[in-house]
Amino acid sequence: MTSYKELGLVNTKELFKKAVSGGYAIPAYNFNNMEQMQSIIQACVETKSPVILQVSSGARKYANQNILKNMARGAVEYAHELGYDIPIVLHLDHGDSFELCKDCIETGFSSVMIDGSHLSYDENVALTKKVCELAHSQKDYVTVEGELGVLAGVEDDVSSEHSHYTQPSEVVDFVGKTKVDSLAISIGTSHGRAKFKPEQCTRDANGILIPPPLRFDILEEIEKQIPGFPIVLHGSSSVPIEYVHMIEKYGGKLTDSVGIPEEQLRKAAKSAVCKINIDSDGRLAMTALIRKILVEKPDEFDPRKILGPARDELKKLYSHKNQNVLGSAGRA
Ligand code: G3H
Ligand code: 13P
Ligand code: ZN
Repeated sequence: MTSYKELGLVNTKELFKKAVSGGYAIPAYNFNNMEQMQSIIQACVETKSPVILQVSSGARKYANQNILKNMARGAVEYAHELGYDIPIVLHLDHGDSFELCKDCIETGFSSVMIDGSHLSYDENVALTKKVCELAHSQKDYVTVEGELGVLAGVEDDVSSEHSHYTQPSEVVDFVGKTKVDSLAISIGTSHGRAKFKPEQCTRDANGILIPPPLRFDILEEIEKQIPGFPIVLHGSSSVPIEYVHMIEKYGGKLTDSVGIPEEQLRKAAKSAVCKINIDSDGRLAMTALIRKILVEKPDEFDPRKILGPARDELKKLYSHKNQNVLGSAGRA
């Protein structure tokens, strides 16, 4: 049994309280390897931003749970070495079972998500409540994120063709019965790099897809029901067109890519939305730079010369998000 405090991590409780009252969102960046972790920490230290390091079940399988746990410990020490101790959360992203959440709680996670959004309402309540009882009874309180409503898109263990918006009429009951610390909602975001079908979008003069707006009316209704309660947005990558073009210029093919425009995320971050999940944008930045180097320097075979520039680009991307989109810069 490892408590997250031994690793130098914090849970989300205080961070969310400050983010909701301060009108900004904490970045939740997914990581699977060393370069991603280094770039997240570099960017968050330089911009003095708190950060949530997210691990999906796919990431645990890919990188090994012990390695990821020790990378989180390393992240805390790395921030210290870089000269500024930012609050760092280690969070399980899209936990799909009680057992997985329990395992993470026992191996140093300071926060877990139990994603029962694909279950019936009553089953979602029962599972989420069970995870909360375990997480909250730890010597060091572990925070829990639940989800109501279904996002479209595909992840490793959770996938859905169609989204179902969160019903504001359910949130008071769900939060009251489960005792979750934060609630992920569905208001039109979705996972991955193609968040909408072309037929759901319009096109600008250059043929670039313009997505339909997020359902801020649903968000406002939810905020009225549970004032000040921490809300989470998944599927919040913007899918920068520059990276899509770069990937395609160097041999990739990412047809019909479209994300959530930054101004909508800026607006969401000012509301009770206090955690914004971003994974795909990092994947795009990394892939774009790797493709560029491999094409432009065909004789290069040192992984450091290939992954190093990708890491630098990731850092730029995360700094930009913290400073210009989420408003988390200067809040650590
Ligand atoms: O929401 C899912 C995240 O993008 C993680 O994706 O399950 O492929 O690691 P993954
Ligand atoms: P994106 O695919 O939009 O980056 O969403 C990531 C996410 O929600 C992780 O849980
Ligand atoms: Zn997600």
